[in-house]
Amino acid sequence: MDIQALHDIAVAMVEPGKGILAADESTGTIGKRFDSIKTESTFEKRRDWREMLFRTQPAMTNHISGVILYDETIRQDAADGTSLVSLIQSSGAIPGIKVDMGAKPLAGRPGETVTEGLDGLRARLAEYYELGARFAKWRAVIEISHPDQYVGMTPTIGGIKANTHALGRYAALCQEAGIVPIVEPEVLMGGHHNVDRCHEVTETALNSLFTELYEQGVKLEGIVLKPNMVVAGQKCTMQPSREEIAERTIKVLKDTVPAAVPGIAFLSGGQKNEEATRNLDMMNKIGGFPWKLTYSYGRALQQSALFAWKGKAENYDAAQAAFNHRAKMNGLASKGEWTEEMDKAG
Ligand code: 13P
Repeated sequence: MDIQALHDIAVAMVEPGKGILAADESTGTIGKRFDSIKTESTFEKRRDWREMLFRTQPAMTNHISGVILYDETIRQDAADGTSLVSLIQSSGAIPGIKVDMGAKPLAGRPGETVTEGLDGLRARLAEYYELGARFAKWRAVIEISHPDQYVGMTPTIGGIKANTHALGRYAALCQEAGIVPIVEPEVLMGGHHNVDRCHEVTETALNSLFTELYEQGVKLEGIVLKPNMVVAGQKCTMQPSREEIAERTIKVLKDTVPAAVPGIAFLSGGQKNEEATRNLDMMNKIGGFPWKLTYSYGRALQQSALFAWKGKAENYDAAQAAFNHRAKMNGLASKGEWTEEMDKAG
């Protein structure tokens, strides 16, 4: 393992002003996104949509350090025959790949899931490296049960450990293959729980994760962490301010994430576009932590472009303008230089 090479990739992924575009929706998930714009999800339409994003300038050159791809996309060509991987590379961004096989029900733990995909992963990583991937993503899903539920309350320690153990094994395999692992233990933000509960569960999950990474021999200089922010469940009546979200998120990260980790790139997890930008910006305005804090957004980078596009070629320019704007706003947030006025003016 060349740890310096892994470290250099991780540092490039979290370069200030830039972040990661999560365009790795599985065929099922992209189908749901296309349903929302009444567009049929075909091989060509998925290609058109992603090609449009990867050709967007200056967003790709100035604000996207890396793109997470899905298995179909890493093998796909643009309409003119250029591979989508080359398109990404030509803007200076790094291609990455989602390698997990999704969250499946965890035996013995009703209401919890464990992410699968370890079997055969060494061979798949070697192929993805040949195809151009220099980083990977694995997402563990941690769901908080309803606050009134006592029997069958989730997550359990067993559920968290099953997931973080898999993340540790995945990360070690990635580093062996010369690929930087994005480790993503996502505490879901749907539900009725309050911000205290999200804080507690996120802290437990991250502590468990870093224990596993250590036990599996993962070198922290060559990873990128992709966590949730500490927020209240979307159905909770008490919603914290941006200051509270930022302060609590920084606190949990300081309590659990070693300074050797080069960067942390948040998921948006269903936060509204501007909310995801504003919360990231707030953390960077506060500052005082050892890692870079940036974005690895799926929905919060793509949604406005998706609604502008509506599956129609004539909306290409409007969709690119929407993506340019969100990428620029998040780029500013990664440096703590975003303002609401700039966002609205766009
Ligand atoms: P969202 O930003 O839409 O949550 O997607 C990020 C991601 O890659 C989740 O795994």
